[in-house]
Amino acid sequence: MSQALPLPPVVRSVAALRAQLAEWRRAGDDIALVPTMGYLHQGHMALVRYGKATCRRVCATLFVNPAQFAPTEDFQTYPRDEAGDRAKLAQAGCDLLYAPTTEEMYPEGFATRITVTGVAEGLCGAFRPQMFGGVATVVTKLLNQASPDVAVFGEKDYQQLLVIRRFVRDLDLPVRIDGAPTVREPSGLAMSSRNAYLSAEQRAQAPELFAALTAAAESLARGGGPVEAVLGAARQRIVAAGFASVDYVELRDAETLATIDRVVRPARLLAAARIGPARLIDNVAVVPPAAV
Ligand code: PAF
Repeated sequence: MSQALPLPPVVRSVAALRAQLAEWRRAGDDIALVPTMGYLHQGHMALVRYGKATCRRVCATLFVNPAQFAPTEDFQTYPRDEAGDRAKLAQAGCDLLYAPTTEEMYPEGFATRITVTGVAEGLCGAFRPQMFGGVATVVTKLLNQASPDVAVFGEKDYQQLLVIRRFVRDLDLPVRIDGAPTVREPSGLAMSSRNAYLSAEQRAQAPELFAALTAAAESLARGGGPVEAVLGAARQRIVAAGFASVDYVELRDAETLATIDRVVRPARLLAAARIGPARLIDNVAVVPPAAV
């Protein structure tokens, strides 16, 4: 039986956050920040454990960020469970939970937005034009508020990870950005808070997204092609599994997300598709054929 560990204290203001982190810094502790929107699952727990293995202290953040949702999206219905999240964070060794109010994050008169071009364009940036500006704005604020040594993000949101790396470099923010591997259910389905939207039937169909990407990546790594035919087969497989529509299945350079039609350097296959009320995303690495 797992022992109940003490719940991490919760702070809701920038001042309280900075006071606690300053105390740890005075004691010589380094700090990892794990930003989340809550409704935590094993994927988030892996990020917290990664942070704990990397730094003496881990601070998780919980903020469902209105700035990254379009008015038509699921901000109001996004699943929330702060008490459950806190209990899970305790088990993963989290030292502090920063859960600011919307007023603390976006006070009256707030008028700034960070815009990232290049890597933020296309893929999810094309289908959710609101998203990366909102992510860049809130993550910049979180990094400024906490000034962590390291911030940890999941590779499941691969484009988001590269967008964050881009603006951190562009704005000279003094923090290291680490990516941690995607955590999957035994079926292969990538863990996501939005999996909670799926019915039992959709949950049985959803792993085909990863299966289709894996098959396509294996084919490309064996030198299969042409690329468009491999991607087309993956799209068909996803729709045949019961997804209502495919936003994209694309092959991109793993570092720049530039469109490519041959795999000569590390690449990434990325997909987004809609099933029932959920829009699921996933991605897998593609190694150049010579490296297999
Ligand atoms: O990946 C998420 O959960 C969010 O986009 C993030 C990085 C916490 C910003 O709101």
